[in-house]
Amino acid sequence: MSDSRLESYLARCRARVEVALNDFLPPESVQPEQLHAAMRYAALGNGKRVRPVLVYAAGEALSAPEKSLDAPACAVELIHTYSLVHDDLPAMDNDDLRRGRKTCHREFDEATAILAGDALQSLAFKILAGNKSLSADAETRVCMIESLAIATGSRGMAGGQALDMAAVGREINLTELENMHIHKTGALIRASVKLGTLQATDADSDHIRGLDHYSKCIGLAFQVVDDILDIEGDTETLGKTRGKDQANNKPTYPSLMGLEASHRMAARLRQEALDSISALDSRADPLRWLAGYILERSR
Ligand code: IPE
Ligand code: IPE
Ligand code: MG
Ligand code: MG
Ligand code: MG
Repeated sequence: MSDSRLESYLARCRARVEVALNDFLPPESVQPEQLHAAMRYAALGNGKRVRPVLVYAAGEALSAPEKSLDAPACAVELIHTYSLVHDDLPAMDNDDLRRGRKTCHREFDEATAILAGDALQSLAFKILAGNKSLSADAETRVCMIESLAIATGSRGMAGGQALDMAAVGREINLTELENMHIHKTGALIRASVKLGTLQATDADSDHIRGLDHYSKCIGLAFQVVDDILDIEGDTETLGKTRGKDQANNKPTYPSLMGLEASHRMAARLRQEALDSISALDSRADPLRWLAGYILERSR
């Protein structure tokens, strides 16, 4: 992996998504001002933007026009942001720090944070349904909306979060843990790659299948590493409070299989991800670098 190429790729995609998010989010000056301020506060924070970057990288691997990737990139990031705002609420993980600053409900209040999450979610679908820079035909648009809806809902992220909450303080086995992680985190990462590939015309169906498998592997690896970082990271770098999983009695990969085996599992998943896109040419290199980044990140 080339670190400097990865860094400049990340910087380019992040700058692009920052501008697009800023444009899509309602201005704070418009009523209801506090709700719009909370949405902007949550979405324009210092996120890694992994999901939008995956939308760009997956689309570009299949030569989708970059301009058509801004809307799906923002839609996925808005859903992710909403999931974080709700994940941090006292009824869920009860966190005070997110992306290096106060969580949305601490900066504003709980009702505002709940509503900001709700409104971020519907903004994501509004963008997919109506954005003009998306050249997708109506059928593709519906497919994008359906894919993101499934990945977000009770059979995706929200369902995974329900499993997470139901697992607090309980002993679950590895199969149950994997199922929880695949849903709460894997589903949106998988959808990110899918939304990117849907912007390409004439893509090879084997390549699309390979990319889907890639996304499943890195989606699970992402949460395994998140669990590891909750132990090995530091609060300042993470931008969120370290040690919360243990404090909240959450079953995690390190708590079930230990740190070393968790690292090995993440490395295995990365290799499986790389293998599944081996037939793609150098346009897929950013996806290869991202598989490494997901493992080696410190936040
Ligand atoms: C944190 O996601 C929550 C998980 C699903 C593990 P990220 O680690 O992508 O958080 P940000 O967007 O960079 O803040
Ligand atoms: C979050 O998992 C998953 C979603 C937000 C859907 P975590 O609860 O582990 O995420 P962090 O560690 O708070 O970012
Ligand atoms: Mg959580
Ligand atoms: Mg949490
Ligand atoms: Mg976590």
